[in-house]
Amino acid sequence: EEHQKQNGRLTGKKVLISAGPTKEKVDPVRFFTNRSTGKMGFALAEAASSMGAEVTLVTGPVNLSLSDDRVQRIDVVTAEEMHEAMHARFEAQDVVIKAAAVADYRPKQVYEEKMKKHDGTWQVEMERTKDILQSLAERKTDQFLVGFAAETKDPVDYGIKKLQQKDLDAIVINNVAADGAGFGGDTNIVTYVNRAHEKKNISKASKQQIARRILELILQDMKDEKK
Ligand code: CTP
Ligand code: CA
Repeated sequence: EEHQKQNGRLTGKKVLISAGPTKEKVDPVRFFTNRSTGKMGFALAEAASSMGAEVTLVTGPVNLSLSDDRVQRIDVVTAEEMHEAMHARFEAQDVVIKAAAVADYRPKQVYEEKMKKHDGTWQVEMERTKDILQSLAERKTDQFLVGFAAETKDPVDYGIKKLQQKDLDAIVINNVAADGAGFGGDTNIVTYVNRAHEKKNISKASKQQIARRILELILQDMKDEKK
């Protein structure tokens, strides 16, 4: 019975999660992307669903499938498409977690035909994409909004800066340069920091276990914010 209660703690809650990289094309055969595989975001979606939430997962291009068919999966490719998919669903949510590694830049010019090689260099001019998380934060009403931070240096300092700048309820800070953490692997090591700047270190564990722990911390903070 205790087990049931634990597992059903997100019952009736709507949770929106973004996962994976985005892919920004420059011509019909070439694109810019990053090392995200989507594992952390998929683990969060499955953990939230197993805790009873109604989950929507917006994912960039990944080689993963969901083991839980109650999760609604929306596939997108570019940062612009992810922006649209997240905004279209944002208002109705209780919890929104942005685990995706969104491209910060995309080619300013997209060639319709394949670019032929030529002598000398090819300079691709890049322009900024929209910051999805920032724009969601600006629309926030009652949603509990959680960002991720991928850092290779001073992770907690930079992560807390992002929490403040984007006015988030919490941030999950990822030292992507550490052993057993970051892109591609099955394990992760993160620090969860909430609005009050309380830090919780989650030591090396499977991305499934980390997902579960993150959701428990979110639930705790949601309870505290309501008080
Ligand atoms: N993010 C986003 N839209 C973007 C870029 C980032 O929604 N165009 C979100 C990510 O999903 C993540 C958070 O912002 O939840 C932080 O991403 P990160 O790349 O660590 O930070 P940035 O703010 O992009 O700053 P920088 O890459 O310069 O460290
Ligand atoms: Ca970035």
